[in-house]
Amino acid sequence: TETPAALTILFGATGDLAKRKLYPSLYRLYRKGHLSSGFAVIGTARREWDNDIFREHVKKSVMESTNIQDQIDEFISHFYYLPHDVSDSNSYAELRTLANELDSKYSLGGNRLFYLAMAPEFFGTIAEHLKLDGLTDTEGFGRLVIEKPFGHDLPSAQELNAQIRRSFDEKDIYRIDHYLGKEMVQNIETIRFANALFEPLWNSRYISNIQITSSETLGVEERGGYYETSGALKDMVQNHMLQMVALLAMEPPISLQDDDIRSEKVRAFRSMRPLTLETVNDYFVRGQYGPGDHVPGYREEINVDPDSNTETYVAGKVMFDNFRWAGVPFYIRTGKRMPLKSTKIVVQFKDIPMNLYYRPDDQEMEPNLLVIHIQPEEGITLHLNAKKSGRQLQTTPVKLSYANNGEDIMNTPEAYEKLIHDAMRGDSTNFTHWDEVALSWSFVDVIAEAWRNEKAAFPNYPAGTKGPKAADELLEKDGFFWWPLN
Ligand code: BG6
Repeated sequence: TETPAALTILFGATGDLAKRKLYPSLYRLYRKGHLSSGFAVIGTARREWDNDIFREHVKKSVMESTNIQDQIDEFISHFYYLPHDVSDSNSYAELRTLANELDSKYSLGGNRLFYLAMAPEFFGTIAEHLKLDGLTDTEGFGRLVIEKPFGHDLPSAQELNAQIRRSFDEKDIYRIDHYLGKEMVQNIETIRFANALFEPLWNSRYISNIQITSSETLGVEERGGYYETSGALKDMVQNHMLQMVALLAMEPPISLQDDDIRSEKVRAFRSMRPLTLETVNDYFVRGQYGPGDHVPGYREEINVDPDSNTETYVAGKVMFDNFRWAGVPFYIRTGKRMPLKSTKIVVQFKDIPMNLYYRPDDQEMEPNLLVIHIQPEEGITLHLNAKKSGRQLQTTPVKLSYANNGEDIMNTPEAYEKLIHDAMRGDSTNFTHWDEVALSWSFVDVIAEAWRNEKAAFPNYPAGTKGPKAADELLEKDGFFWWPLN
């Protein structure tokens, strides 16, 4: 579908996310001709900038992300800036006047995308003002695009949701989980549902366990203040990791319509085995990085409590109590300051009933694996066993690989580009519905509570290593091990 003309009103226009992801993504959409039917952007933030300063800022952010610069001046001429106080109706009145002006200037048909890329404590207030002060009162669509975190537990998420629902219908709320914009995360469904080879095997009869790893090399950088209130559980598990789990575990949808996919994801979330305060430690382990080679430990980072109990690493086991998955563990792990930046999914198939090739002096045959590489490489690898060449009947592992030519190896700007484009076109498939958010918070809240009540023996892994020993033990007690990170 064509991208309709629309005005984007961006809250948090001077912020880091806008600079690193949103402006470069808009530019790419512009260059590909997706915004040609008319677009304008109003940036707002507290700072007293004007259009010129803002346009220079946008230009700089684009130029830092790419060396292509054609049409850049024309592109930035669509950007406008208003200093804004999120709790002051006068600010919204000014915003409304400018929005109406741009609406006629660019023939935008009253279509508006309100993009909240700023501190979450203001999400609710802004949503309320947008309606009260008449910004949503137009002929066209009014969509709210909202960044994470969506609350910090179930009650706070419910409160925020109630607040934004006073101004926006669920169908007009686009909650971003940027992992859902990644090419290979979107490919999970295609691999599963477009191949006769996998779907028949995609169950507890043939799969022994699934491992999802998202490792980072960076520490918390300048985000200590936020991260202290979040930790890896709320920063990565509640959203990105559980979303990938749901896509792997869900039943085939009846169609690729957003509603149909969403209802299967919701059903998957509902069949996750809930944890209790007593069982949390059997299923989840946490870690915090200590000092490593030339890098400080988490507790030495800026804005971090020197005695912090915040986890920078989580590994866990998610079980589904349903027909398809009974008894198959979904292991997840994510952490900062690990040896490499990588996100990948390993689907480990069960061993064949009898190994004809077994010899006591030989290595055991490897199980079949389907590896989905999400980043930095994009592709899939299938691990099989074949005959070793020569006369003896010995097996040797072989790999069938398919690599996607990622446009951009870091992939994330591309994810944003897709999601912004989807929001403009009104396709909410790759956004998280309220029910998914609520269910994942109720799963995660118990873990958070158990960990709050008990001080951990942190730090428990040196920066630059693969995480605490307890993460290995988690799999060992089930007779498994983590497949290597690389
Ligand atoms: C964000 C988290 O949602 O995802 C960050 O807040 C994390 O802490 C980031 O670094 C990871 O995203 P990506 O796309 O780099 O894997």
